[in-house]
Amino acid sequence: MRTTVGIIGSGPAGLLLARLLHRAGIDCVVLESRERAHVERRQRAGILEQATVDALRAVGAAQRLDAEALVHDGIELRWNGRGHRVDFPSLTGGRRVWVYAQTEVVKDLIALRLADGAPLFFGARVHAVEGADTDRPVVRYTHEGKEKTLTCDYVVGCDGFHGVARDAVPATLRRTFERVYPYSWLGILADVPPSCDELIYAHSPRGFALHSMRTPHVSRLYLQVPNGTDPADWSDRRIWDELDTRFAVDGAWRLRRGPITAKSVLPMRSSVTEPMRYGRLFLAGDAAHIVPPTGAKGLNLAAADVVVLARALAHRAETGSADLLDAYSDTCLRRVWRAEHFSYFMTTTLHTDPGRSDFETRLQISQLDRIASSPHAAAELAENYTGLPLPHA
Ligand code: DHB
Repeated sequence: MRTTVGIIGSGPAGLLLARLLHRAGIDCVVLESRERAHVERRQRAGILEQATVDALRAVGAAQRLDAEALVHDGIELRWNGRGHRVDFPSLTGGRRVWVYAQTEVVKDLIALRLADGAPLFFGARVHAVEGADTDRPVVRYTHEGKEKTLTCDYVVGCDGFHGVARDAVPATLRRTFERVYPYSWLGILADVPPSCDELIYAHSPRGFALHSMRTPHVSRLYLQVPNGTDPADWSDRRIWDELDTRFAVDGAWRLRRGPITAKSVLPMRSSVTEPMRYGRLFLAGDAAHIVPPTGAKGLNLAAADVVVLARALAHRAETGSADLLDAYSDTCLRRVWRAEHFSYFMTTTLHTDPGRSDFETRLQISQLDRIASSPHAAAELAENYTGLPLPHA
């Protein structure tokens, strides 16, 4: 098979890129190793920045989002038994965020691609990308028990942290910057209306807790737990009791309990691979960078990468100039490092590091007090949380 752009992976990066290219009249093929049901069931974060929503709207993929997403104008931070709300619009000149699960974005984009009759193959396991430094890179994969070849003008690796695309960049030409955190998250979904109108990020001596939501009837909550935690060790009762303790605040607030429908443990890592391009192979989303989940930047970074890349590929098709493709890695990395810093900041400010000293805990409290008392410090958080505008072409 032959195509202009071969896309490996049908997470949000691969699917949004396919949609952007389709709308620009550039043909592409998406290869996904897992089955559709698996891809559509994966639980990820649920906060969309303005730029992500703009991109989905621009390609006609926001119909359900616009009908169902919850629009949030702030978050609450909790520490030392008190809460402080950070108001986004007043601190950022009107910016806000949308609560809409990543898995719903994925479902919407898959449905659109299949409705267009455009190529998207599930169960297509890529084992190699060859000739990335030539004019005709080739993707080798297995589908329906047969070895197959996809010959491309460009290949885009949207296949995540454990995918094959990153390894197709010679080790001597890439560098990975990394930090692994000494804690994980236990995430739950519960059939109970959220106990708050906006998300709550709680610092507590027993560890971090986050109250998020999916719909007016479904809550999503997270607890900091030690690395290696087995979700089976956490009964529903133990989870709700621990959440209660960590969210405790002076005043009348109460956490609603309900049936827990999913439990999983997420490790926390920061990682950036540079550059995000080798010849005609481009890396996007988690294939190039990972953020710890605090602040929900992963999907938004992936969307920003592919908006920049789609623009560069369209520019190349229209003008013959590779200028924007040549700038892709540098353009994306500026935004990536900003989000890396913010995610690291949110993570290290709010979690209890088992190896920390009381000195570091005092610094965390001082930083939270500062956000509560200085509009400048609060605006810094609000600007990063709601996301930077996309660079212009
Ligand atoms: C969610 C996850 C996050 O990491 C976050 O910072 C906010 C929300 C979520 O899953 O809803």
